[in-house]
Amino acid sequence: DKGAYPYYMLKEIDEQAVVARNIAGHYFDEDGNLQGIPCAVTDAIEAADRLYIVAAGTSYHAGLIGKRYFEQWAKIPTEVHIASEFAYDQPMLSEKPFFIFLSQSGETADSREVLDNVKKQGYPALTLANVMNSTLTREADFALPVLAGPEIAVASTKAYTAQVLVQAILAASLGNPGFDLKAELAKVAVEIQAITDEKESFKKIAEDALKDQHSAFYIGRGLDAAVALEAALKLKEISYIQTEGFAAGELKHGTISLIEEGTPVFALLTQSKTAGLLRGEVAQVAARGANTIVFASEELAKEGDAFVLPQVNELLMPLLAVIPAQLVAYYATLARGLDVDRPRNLAKSVTVQ
Ligand code: F6R
Repeated sequence: DKGAYPYYMLKEIDEQAVVARNIAGHYFDEDGNLQGIPCAVTDAIEAADRLYIVAAGTSYHAGLIGKRYFEQWAKIPTEVHIASEFAYDQPMLSEKPFFIFLSQSGETADSREVLDNVKKQGYPALTLANVMNSTLTREADFALPVLAGPEIAVASTKAYTAQVLVQAILAASLGNPGFDLKAELAKVAVEIQAITDEKESFKKIAEDALKDQHSAFYIGRGLDAAVALEAALKLKEISYIQTEGFAAGELKHGTISLIEEGTPVFALLTQSKTAGLLRGEVAQVAARGANTIVFASEELAKEGDAFVLPQVNELLMPLLAVIPAQLVAYYATLARGLDVDRPRNLAKSVTVQ
């Protein structure tokens, strides 16, 4: 039931603060110790020499963020693969691979095909899914819940943030983030709420920048490049505005020739290491006429940025940076008079290959 909300997507965007709290409540005890991840799971992962995250669409994008946590905190080399590609062109694997399937529905046929293949080869697998008791959770050796609650809108929002959160928690259980993850996640929940409370700002940004546009861009570097992919998918899949998301350093290798007078270029700027370079790239597209819209974290924000994202640990900034993009996609679609929850040609769960 969407209650007072006009669309499920908006309801699900709003639920993300509560989802973050529920996930922390499930995976941390009162003293801040991790719970709910069986030793069998951590033992199996620790016995592996490499993680292979396999997923599709938005879940694949969540995996790109998770990779950072597994590598940086748990020190396990991690590859992220598109299920439909892996299924028919299996890359060379390490000696002791461990597979992680990420899925909202747990029914995605492309991911199921990969799971079948790797099981036949005798490799261990864990599914992180929102729908428990789904095919991918039943058929993997292990399964952990993503706990986003039912997601009805075709465009995935809260399942993405939930998948990022659960991967962070799993990586923390295998290693050490070097900060108090539970406390920082509590802050993340508060700040997600603060951003979703700013709906009018994003409605205005979307209407001003996107109402009559046929194309748009999202750029970022590092984790922001991964969020840019998700931000672009969100915008294009429901508004039908052709949107490219990519690593900002690639602009000069081709894409910049697409920039025209008024082309909207959204920049996600939350990673300090590359903030200077990204500012340069924003200036380059602006000089070619782009309408630049910068969403920057508090510590990196400058005068003229469209929105300042509250500051949390940089590695957790994707959880905040994606929210404006979800809201911009929602309001741009609304402004174009389209059905936000049911974009053409798409189904919620993709059970064909
Ligand atoms: C986009 C979206 C899709 C799904 C993809 C995988 O908003 O929802 O890209 O993420 O079809 O689905 P799951 O996560 O159910 O395996």
